[in-house]
Amino acid sequence: MTKGTETRYRVRGGTTLHGTVFIQGAKNAALKMIAASLLTSKGRTVLRNVPPIEDVRRAIELAQAVGALVEFHEPERTLVVDASRLTSPVLPAEIARRSRASVLFVPALLHRFGEAVIEGIGGCNLGSRNLDFHYRGFARLGATVDEGDSVIRITAPAGLRGAHLYLDTPSHTGTENLIMAASLAPGTTIIDNTAQEPEVLDVIAFLSRMGADISGGGTGFITVHGVSELTAVEHTVMPDRIDAGLFAMAVAAAGGEINLVGANLDHFGVVRWKLEQMGVEFASQGAVLQVRRERPLRPINVVTSPYPGFATDLQSPIMAAATMADGASYIRETIFDGRYTLVPELNKMGAKIEIDNNVAIVHGAAGLHGCEVTAHDLRGGAALILAGLAAEGETLVSNGYLIDRGHATMVERFAALGADVSAEEHEPAIVS
Ligand code: EPU
Repeated sequence: MTKGTETRYRVRGGTTLHGTVFIQGAKNAALKMIAASLLTSKGRTVLRNVPPIEDVRRAIELAQAVGALVEFHEPERTLVVDASRLTSPVLPAEIARRSRASVLFVPALLHRFGEAVIEGIGGCNLGSRNLDFHYRGFARLGATVDEGDSVIRITAPAGLRGAHLYLDTPSHTGTENLIMAASLAPGTTIIDNTAQEPEVLDVIAFLSRMGADISGGGTGFITVHGVSELTAVEHTVMPDRIDAGLFAMAVAAAGGEINLVGANLDHFGVVRWKLEQMGVEFASQGAVLQVRRERPLRPINVVTSPYPGFATDLQSPIMAAATMADGASYIRETIFDGRYTLVPELNKMGAKIEIDNNVAIVHGAAGLHGCEVTAHDLRGGAALILAGLAAEGETLVSNGYLIDRGHATMVERFAALGADVSAEEHEPAIVS
């Protein structure tokens, strides 16, 4: 993207989808592994199947800011991290404020320097997203946390030590971050109410390969016996279930039959059953997941909840698909309070969605028409592309950069399905 310009996606709707796409590696596992690779000064970490997306590039910038040497071979999707000599415990504001991933570097910086300083903290616009579970956990492991207005300083000059921790709700990143912190803390750490997302299990597999002693993954109750050192390893990142779910929902919205290479239906949780209720059919053949929708779409009820419940990251895409279902769908978001910003954008396209007591009621089937809409967050932006595929005429999605944070090569992959999606740079309109 050239400075001063923005990416805008242009979608011409009305084509059913046919073809094959590759599902990228999981963003929400890869980001944690990049940070975890700084826990060791021994050897070079090699991560395969890393998605070439903006959030990964930012995590690389964070790793480089503290002195790690990182090579990202994007065509091969292979990332190599050499953290043998870190140079600074400070995550500088200009990088940290653009990414919430900065908090994931705290365990490594505490271990390597006895302190971690975050000069700002950023992320997607999803309403109030706290990090109190992380900081409370670090404190119970023996760190001192000083939260200033614009700087957070966490110190543990004598190192961390095992403790009994709990999470108020099973936070995905909170679970991974506290496991990382506990991996090198002498003694035993028990974490109650942990997240069970497949990405958490992949991060545990990665850390275990590095030498960490972690048990209880997937049970909601994790035990970590601290070890004295970890070693760099090679690991292949699991497939991205949200990327796979997005393409499955594109088929729900636009119809057709596609093959998703690398998608794992076992990782869909409740998403699978909701799509089947809507009339989407799945068939797994080895590493290829076939997704088909030929009949008219049926409406659904969705309540987002931690895995294996319906993934909040797929709530916006299913809302876009539900606009095409014949009847009223009811969608309730329970994880993030900023995830209905898509509603006015879909309504601009002709959808009839109202919010009543935090439930989005989608009155279908609406005949969507293309127009200019704005992405307000990553998954909402991707959902607007899906709405564009189902709409008549042309849809322009501005703030496309937000979509690029989490989904790679959207233009090429939709082209492989016969859809007309392009990305262009444009000068943003000046609003006085
Ligand atoms: N929460 C707190 N305090 C904390 C941590 C979380 O109150 O210290 C609350 C949050 O405000 C939210 C709930 O707990 O209401 C769940 O948050 P969680 O910590 O599970 O979310 P996260 O780890 O910050 C990850 C993904 C999100 C995904 C959620 C839920 C990463 C980098 N991000 O966020 O992904 O939506 O889990 O599965 O792993 C995305 O990919 O677009 C995305 C936003």
